[in-house]
Amino acid sequence: DKGNFSHFMAKEIHEQPQVIRQTLENYLNADKSGLQHPPLPFNWQDISRITIVACGTAYYAGLVAKYWFESIARLPVEIDIASEFRYRTPPLIKGDLAIFISQSGETADTLAAQAYAKTQEQHCLAVVNVPESSLARAVDCVFMTHAGTEIGVASTKAFTTQLSVLAVLAIAAAQARQTISQNDYQHHCMALAQIPALMDEVLLCEHKCREIAYQLSKARDILYLGRGTSYAIAMEGALKLKEISYIHAEGYAAGELKHGPIALIDDTVPVIAIAPSDALFEKTASNIQEVAARKGRVILISDAEGHEKFPHPDFVRLTLPATSPLLSPILYALPVQMLAYHTAVIKGTDVDQPRNLAKSVTVE
Ligand code: F6R
Repeated sequence: DKGNFSHFMAKEIHEQPQVIRQTLENYLNADKSGLQHPPLPFNWQDISRITIVACGTAYYAGLVAKYWFESIARLPVEIDIASEFRYRTPPLIKGDLAIFISQSGETADTLAAQAYAKTQEQHCLAVVNVPESSLARAVDCVFMTHAGTEIGVASTKAFTTQLSVLAVLAIAAAQARQTISQNDYQHHCMALAQIPALMDEVLLCEHKCREIAYQLSKARDILYLGRGTSYAIAMEGALKLKEISYIHAEGYAAGELKHGPIALIDDTVPVIAIAPSDALFEKTASNIQEVAARKGRVILISDAEGHEKFPHPDFVRLTLPATSPLLSPILYALPVQMLAYHTAVIKGTDVDQPRNLAKSVTVE
């Protein structure tokens, strides 16, 4: 049932505050200043490296998590796409941790990657949305995302619940490894608890996203740029747009722009910059400046502080509420979903059942 929405995807985008709240209820303690989670079959102190494996949108959730584990828990993370990982047969150190992320828990390549990790004597942990799925049954430890059934082929609420659970894991690892102070630990937990309310605010910019989507719907190619965790959101934004609007889009690390893709920029190419006002803002801003100098049509997604720091009369702007720099990707996922959704609706494509795609890829 789509309720009052025209598509399941729209309904699922709007369900995000509620399903994140539901998910976090399982992982935050009552006063929201600490975590609770299923027992782990390993000690965080004993892990020397994490391997994260997933496909598509779930892979981009993993890419965000890599930045989180490395920055706050000081744990090295290898991340790979399941279809590459499984045939690459990488040597893994016995007793390390492998994390598999999957909405369905039935993606053939992800399942095969997990089977391989087991032969390498990894502790296998799954972040998964379907409790009775093959992946959930195969691993040693399950961290559920409580997104509810996701019907739209393009993943939305599964992605942000994956991010929320991965944030819980990274914060838990950091606390156990004592790489953050008790103060920072509480601060991160409380910031996580605030995400659903901030998401409600972000959803209010839907009207603006629809306006911008008119511009996007006329483009042939669109670039998404970001640094750090915003790079992963740029990749996810480009994937979302491609799969439902059929417009060619690429996500790039903003710093890579001058190593090639800047050659594409002219006044027909919209460039969507994911740039919360964090420690990397100035760096991203200087890349956006290069785009503007070549007449690229910049769409800047930032918070009030970021927009203020970067006045430019020609930019199209989307303003998000300020958030903890660590958790910004969970919020910035929403505008890229809404931009893709409205662009597809304007183009008249089949949003919930895009051509050539299946909800769950059970063949390799
Ligand atoms: C994109 C999308 C896909 C899935 C991918 C993995 O919107 O939905 O890229 O993320 O097929 O599926 P799961 O998470 O079920 O393993």
